[in-house]
Amino acid sequence: MSKKTILSGIQATGNLTLGNYLGAINNWKKMQEEYECNYMIADLHTLTIRNDPEKLRNNTLDLLALYIAAGIDPEKSNIFIQSQVAAHAELAWILNCYTYMGELSRMTQFKDKSTKHADNINSGLFTYPVLMAADILLYQADLVPVGEDQKQHVELTRNIAERFNKIYGDTFKIPEPYIHGVGARVMGLQDPTSKMSKSSTIPNDSIFLNDEPDVILKKFKKAVTDSENIVRYDKEKKPGISNLISIYSAITGESKEEIENKFESKGYGDFKVAVAECVIEELKPLQNKYNELKNNPDYLEKLYINGAERAKKIAKSTLKDVYEKVGLVW
Ligand code: TRP
Repeated sequence: MSKKTILSGIQATGNLTLGNYLGAINNWKKMQEEYECNYMIADLHTLTIRNDPEKLRNNTLDLLALYIAAGIDPEKSNIFIQSQVAAHAELAWILNCYTYMGELSRMTQFKDKSTKHADNINSGLFTYPVLMAADILLYQADLVPVGEDQKQHVELTRNIAERFNKIYGDTFKIPEPYIHGVGARVMGLQDPTSKMSKSSTIPNDSIFLNDEPDVILKKFKKAVTDSENIVRYDKEKKPGISNLISIYSAITGESKEEIENKFESKGYGDFKVAVAECVIEELKPLQNKYNELKNNPDYLEKLYINGAERAKKIAKSTLKDVYEKVGLVW
C-alpha cells in the first residue's frame, strides 16, 4: 500500500515557541517515517497582517533553519516556501470562486483577527482559509496535522473539495485534520487558559525556541500556578500546573500519573526547575544545529530551491487537472 500524504505549515511570523515545537514540528518529525510529508513555510499567509519586509524574509529563512534543526529531514520530507510555488496562489483564486462569503464569515480565526487588527480587515484576512485549502488540496493530502485552532479551516477545506468534486468529478482528495496529543495544547505560562503564542504580548508567557537556558529557567520559575502546592493534573482547577505536567510529559514520555508520583513529596518550586531543565536539555541540540545552519546560508538556499522544485511538480499536476476541468486553457 502506498504511503499516505501529509501537508502542514507554520506561518513565518516571529519566533517559534515551545508550543509550536511540541505541538507541531516534533510530531512532524515522527511522521516522516510513515508518511509522504510536505512541510511548508506559510509566508503568503503572513501578508494578511502588516510586516516589515526584511523581517519577513528573515523569519522565513529562520523557520526553514528551525524545521531542519528540529529534525525534519530534507531527504525524507519535502520542505518548501509557499510563495515559491506559484500554484498555491493560482489555485487559491479558483477556489475563491467556489467558497461562499457566509462560510468565510463564520471562521472564528477571521472573527478574532478582525477584532485584533480592526484597522486592517483586508480581504486576504477574509480569504485566508481558501489559500490554506489550496495548500492542502494541491498535494492531495490525506492528513493535515494542525492545532485545535486550525481544525475549522480543514473542515472548510473538506467542504470546498467536496463541492468541487461534486461539480467536476473526482479532483481532490478529501483531507482529514490530524490533531496531535499532549503537545497540541501547550498553554501560556502566565495565562494557562490560552494557547502559548508566538505573538503573546504578556511577558514571560511563551518559551521561544531560541531562548537561552537562563531565560527558560526564569520563565518557568515565574509560571503562574495555584496555591495548593501539590503536583496534580487537573486542567479545570489547576490549569497552570497541569500545563507544566503536560510539557514535562511531552518531553520525557512519562505519563501524568508517573509524574504526579515522582513529584509527590516535592513542591512547585522543585517541579518548575525540573520542567525547565528538561526543556533546556531538549532544546540544546536544536539550538546548536540552528546556529550552525544560520551560518550556512548557501546550504539553506540549496534546500529551498530543491524543495520548491519538488513541490512544483506535485502541485502542477493538480493545478492542470483543475484548469482543464473549469475550462481554462492550460
Ligand atoms: N493557518 C495555519 C496556522 O496559522 C498555517 C497554515 C497555512 C497551514 N497553510 C496551511 C497549516 C496548510 C496546515 C496546512 O497555523
